[in-house]
Amino acid sequence: MSSRIGRRHPETIVPLEDMPDLHAPASVPDGPVVRLGNVGKKFGTVTALHDVTFEVQRGEILGIIGRSGAGKSTLIRCLNGLEKPDRGRVEILGQDIVPLTESALQQVRGRIGMIFQHFNLLSTKTVEQNVALPLKIAGTPRPERTARVRELLELVGLSDKAQVYPAKLSGGQKQRVGIARALAAHPALLLCDEATSALDPETTLSILNLLRDINRRLGLTIVLITHEMSVVRAIADRVIVMDQGRIVEEGDVWQVFAAPEAALTQRLIGSQTSELPSALRDGLRNDWTQGAHLVLRVQLSGDAAQRPVLAEMTRDLDVLPVMLNATVQHVQEQAVASFVVAFADAGEALARRVGDYLAARVSRLEVLGYVQQLA
Ligand SMILES: Nc1ncnc2c1ncn2[C@@H]1O[C@H](COP(=O)(O)OP(=O)(O)OP(=O)(O)O)[C@@H](O)[C@H]1O
Ligand SMILES: [Mg+2]
Repeated sequence: MSSRIGRRHPETIVPLEDMPDLHAPASVPDGPVVRLGNVGKKFGTVTALHDVTFEVQRGEILGIIGRSGAGKSTLIRCLNGLEKPDRGRVEILGQDIVPLTESALQQVRGRIGMIFQHFNLLSTKTVEQNVALPLKIAGTPRPERTARVRELLELVGLSDKAQVYPAKLSGGQKQRVGIARALAAHPALLLCDEATSALDPETTLSILNLLRDINRRLGLTIVLITHEMSVVRAIADRVIVMDQGRIVEEGDVWQVFAAPEAALTQRLIGSQTSELPSALRDGLRNDWTQGAHLVLRVQLSGDAAQRPVLAEMTRDLDVLPVMLNATVQHVQEQAVASFVVAFADAGEALARRVGDYLAARVSRLEVLGYVQQLA
């Protein structure tokens, strides 16, 4: 089973009832926290962003995924004003930040927290001093600062490391400090650029769970960019898939998992769903020849994933499919079942009958081809 990333790993999370009250965050106006309209950005002849339009609602976790060079970092830098687009609007909390001066941008950045792949902690400062830094810059008085840093370290589970220097921390602990620092000034938006890419899978999981927990607890809006589908799957509500500066797919995470439309999304998700043994994959042909098996990949989601669709097909069509691979994952509490089946000596007529039957009942049907030998 490929349920590699569970929804909850409570070991690292302080139970809600044990948490101190966090100071009331500054108010967030109604409407989307982020609204991008037709944003374009070129670097010389390279189009890093092409006509990018999307919104992020309050309290939502948006995952932005794409391969290297897709424009993810450029996009996130446009969100905090570190990069100015050539065209389009970048509204943060209802305000277009594109025309703002640097000093006006500082105000906006005060509402945005950011965490990075390589943590960006100051090595000459202790954990406590690192977390306090944004508060110091904002002119928060010392007693308030001390109290806030204490609650933040408690929130990220690092109260015992306050006096330690970053060099003595593990990667996961460093990122927890990064998160505490990003939250110090009560941001309305948290931006994460490959925040778990430098971490091992288990530590990644604990950081993602911490982010999810903070999102739930504080209602914090999060935009997270990554090249790993497992990260999106673990915590995002909605996903945007980017390729060469463009949005190629967008939707609720479980729906995109159940029925990915763009070829890139299918590839990114492919490694998460049912795979074929390489010998079988290599033997696949587009055309049927005498004695060949028809191989299909089928995905079912939501209520359909709970139904015995294959068993019903066996009965209704009087066929005997061979199961080559099967997984059931839970994405955002929704079941997404994926399996690969073969039908012996299946000519065109049977292929059409099976295809029509399944197409009416499943969320995605893909004809992988015909193969002479199953093993
Ligand atoms: N300052 C810059 N000057 C010139 N070209 C740039 C600059 N920043 C980005 N680019 C180009 O824009 C494109 C998008 O880059 P970007 O860093 O946004 O991609 P990315 O999706 O974050 O990639 P990665 O996953 O490798 O971090 C790339 O072709 C990159 O070479
Ligand atoms: Mg990048």
